Amino acid sequence: MKILFSSSELAPLCQSGGLGDAVSGLARALGAAGHEVTCIIPAYRSALRSHGCPRLIDRGPMTLRFRPDEGLPFELSGRLLAGSLFPGVEVVLVDIPQLYDRPGIYGEAGGSYGDNGLRFIALGRAAAYYAEAHQPDVVVAHDWHAGLTVAALRTSLDRGPTRAIGTVQVVHNNAHQGRLPASCLALSGLARDLFHKDGVESWGELNLLKCGLAFADRIVAVSPTYAKEVQTAAFGEGLDGMYRGRSHRLRGVVNGIDTARFDPSTDLALAAPYSSRDPAGKRICRERLLQDLHLDEPPPGMLVTGIGRLAEQKGWDVLLVAIDGLVKLGCTIALLGDGDADLARQLRDKMAAHPRRVWFRSAFDEGLSRRLYAGADVVLVPSRFEPCGLVQLIGQRYGTVPVAHATGGLVDTIRDPYFAPHKRADDVVDPWGTATGCLFSPLTAKDLVEAVARVAALGQTGRLPDVQRRLMALDVSWDEPAQSWEAILTEVVSEARARW
Ligand code: GLC
Repeated sequence: MKILFSSSELAPLCQSGGLGDAVSGLARALGAAGHEVTCIIPAYRSALRSHGCPRLIDRGPMTLRFRPDEGLPFELSGRLLAGSLFPGVEVVLVDIPQLYDRPGIYGEAGGSYGDNGLRFIALGRAAAYYAEAHQPDVVVAHDWHAGLTVAALRTSLDRGPTRAIGTVQVVHNNAHQGRLPASCLALSGLARDLFHKDGVESWGELNLLKCGLAFADRIVAVSPTYAKEVQTAAFGEGLDGMYRGRSHRLRGVVNGIDTARFDPSTDLALAAPYSSRDPAGKRICRERLLQDLHLDEPPPGMLVTGIGRLAEQKGWDVLLVAIDGLVKLGCTIALLGDGDADLARQLRDKMAAHPRRVWFRSAFDEGLSRRLYAGADVVLVPSRFEPCGLVQLIGQRYGTVPVAHATGGLVDTIRDPYFAPHKRADDVVDPWGTATGCLFSPLTAKDLVEAVARVAALGQTGRLPDVQRRLMALDVSWDEPAQSWEAILTEVVSEARARW
């Protein structure tokens, strides 16, 4: 298949979080499976300068014409640059300096650019024109930034062979929707009569995610549980009605991780390599970590980590409250995350209150994060909501037990027989016989501490190393997800062909 991805993020060129990893992981897996994948993204300054950026060739000029107001047309012009990223995967950068040649991706110093609406309307339109010119079999739009690609293909450009291009809207995070003032409709190039509740309007605004959801042949959420959750008022963020109305088109596929990049048997950041077959190195990593961070460990010892963005979604406020309880339980805690300054300050206070038992650093540090994954016994994932989540998968890969709030993709990727919906008959005899982590609900500090206590109890039976080996042996790669994706795309392509 010829597949066109439209996305704001693509690792290693540009990313602000899990989106960039997921998009490039999937592209790479589909490319490796023999498909011809092109990823169209904005030519951010940081993407053009990134070490991961391949040698680019100029694919010619590109002009977008806007009519913000009757009689007031304006143009944005730039060029398309292209290069080969992975085997079978090409990247095309939409180089409109006026929009993308800036220090940040979405903004600077924690803020957002005031014209982000226009910046991603431009991405959607450029990607749709690219599709019209190059006729892929299917277009896959990632998150709200790319939603307009789908609506433009299915409405203003829906003619001739372009009708036979299949479309998929991927929902990596429904909390961000690209809500814009109704006046932006003119910039989008969409017809005015699409501005209604079954079209691109949502609560009086133009909603770029809905531009994808309303018109896509399939909607794919990044886990089956999240695909159900977005249909509820609690997770739908105002779009639950749209998801329910199109639930026959909605699928859920969990992400994988790059198992070559995250591999404790070859990871040069670690004090010692290890694997499920030869797990001894994990102990060495653990000891080295305690030493390096100047942490004490009272017996029997349980080293707990938390890694990620200090953001509302990730539930660090709950973790903060749980710290005293974890210390009382006998845990030693090492945390790494950047983002919210206030939370960082409070975490630093906790570190001061529990010297040698609690360690925190406010930073994004990939090498250190891998040493934490490797050294810890438990990795906490107290997310309020989590469409898929990568932390629990990386944790499993490094043989570290994820203890996670039972939400979204965490429910689909962590098997916990203590957690009622997962329970099977044979689990009654030995729940730890099949567990791949711990789930807890509701999201409170008390429930989090109780879940960690279950792992601590396991530790005392001496069976923790068996469970760790089981985690390391799990297949968290893109192999299986890519097969599910292939099946969905094949279906979409054959339906779309029948349309023309
Ligand atoms: C978003 C979601 C996260 C998901 C990632 C990749 O960052 O918050 O749960 O893993 O996208 O799909």
